[in-house]
Amino acid sequence: MGFQIEKIWMTIMVVAICLSNGRIEAQVKVGFYSGSCPTAELIIQEEVEKALTGDPGVGADLLRMFFHDCFASGCDASILLDSTANNTAEKDAKVNLTLEGFEIIDNIKERLEAVCKGVVSCADIIAFAARDSVAHYGGVHFKVAGGRRDGRVSRAADASILPSADQNLSQLTKLFISRGLSQSDMIILSGAHTIGISHCDAFAGQLYDVHADGYEAMDEKYAAHLRQRCPPGSNNTVVMNPHSQFVFDNRYYKNLLSRHGLFVSDRTLLSTHGTETQVRRYASNYKRFQRKFADAMFKLGKMDVLTGADGEIRANCRAIN
Ligand code: HEM
Ligand SMILES: *[C@@H]1O[C@H](CO)[C@@H](O)[C@H](O)[C@H]1NC(C)=O
Ligand SMILES: *[C@@H]1O[C@H](CO)[C@@H](O)[C@H](O)[C@H]1NC(C)=O
Ligand SMILES: *[C@@H]1O[C@H](CO)[C@@H](O)[C@H](O)[C@H]1NC(C)=O
Ligand SMILES: *[C@@H]1O[C@H](CO)[C@@H](O)[C@H](O)[C@H]1NC(C)=O
Repeated sequence: MGFQIEKIWMTIMVVAICLSNGRIEAQVKVGFYSGSCPTAELIIQEEVEKALTGDPGVGADLLRMFFHDCFASGCDASILLDSTANNTAEKDAKVNLTLEGFEIIDNIKERLEAVCKGVVSCADIIAFAARDSVAHYGGVHFKVAGGRRDGRVSRAADASILPSADQNLSQLTKLFISRGLSQSDMIILSGAHTIGISHCDAFAGQLYDVHADGYEAMDEKYAAHLRQRCPPGSNNTVVMNPHSQFVFDNRYYKNLLSRHGLFVSDRTLLSTHGTETQVRRYASNYKRFQRKFADAMFKLGKMDVLTGADGEIRANCRAIN
């Protein structure tokens, strides 16, 4: 009798696992456009390269765009929608991105519509463009599944879930877990701060906190340099990793160990033994960093995706059809 019940349970579990996996795996897959728009990934890569020739920093915007899109409300390109008369979109929330990234996506979309009308989603364009940006900077060329569909809503309030530079380890961990990611995912994805810039207003308050000690403490010379670059009231930009600004390396973790992490949210990764151990591993093992980053990006790219008949393929990434 007990054996029978166990068997039934096993069957239910197996079916449930197959169903839940099947729903994601069947529709979001690597090579999704190989039949319907074989040149899609090539066109996206060409446009990303072109944009990077004009502005070597723009790949960082594209990578951050992907993170924000997926983290805020699922990878559905809601981040690209413009606000309308009755709706304030994510892109106009306080956490903002630069205009340039949006224009690159527009250019890509225009070219794709010309060759494969109504086929390639804006959400997939963001995902491929993030991959191509990391590869351009010499980082790992990770696989990206396609088949995400575009969402029909974008709410500024959804952007309020994004992490901020003053959050500590427990806050960040809780936030990432609430979005289906783990603390380890958070630690490896933070490695993205090995490229890019920050505006002073994102972290300047932290520079004048004379009480910072322990893991929050910053190398004194570095802090002095940043204070000079970010006087109160200014909103200049600083390079997050001055040693190799345009190289997607594991320098971010080395910077943390030498107390050159820019944000509290970066330096807080040293605040427990367990997280510090992971930081040390990535700092000393470039291959491991690359492999884990690739895996985590793949996972990030599957967050709450719309597939099949859900959502739509936008004709213009800035507006719902
Ligand atoms: C863990 C929590 C995180 C926090 C608190 C955080 C916060 C920030 C802040 C405040 C900036 C500066 C924005 C500005 O002033 O222009 C920034 C930049 C950036 N972030 Fe994060 N971030 C986090 C995680 C991530 C993740 C997971 C990724 C991607 C996988 C990412 C990619 C980037 C990139 C590439 C930039 C540079 C953007 C540019 O150069 O325009 N961040 N982040
Ligand atoms: C704006 O409001 C109208 C009427 O309530 C609604 O039909 C439309 O979907 C709204 N647009 C957006 C973008 O929310
Ligand atoms: C966000 O960025 C867009 C595009 O640059 C800009 O029009 C908008 O005013 C910004 N919003 C905020 C709140 O900074
Ligand atoms: C993290 O920040 C929250 C909110 O400010 C605070 O309640 C908590 O004690 C902090 N945790 C640590 C470990 O500092
Ligand atoms: C600093 O610049 C960023 C990006 O342009 C903007 O979002 C932010 O509101 C600015 N902050 C201040 C205090 O001007």
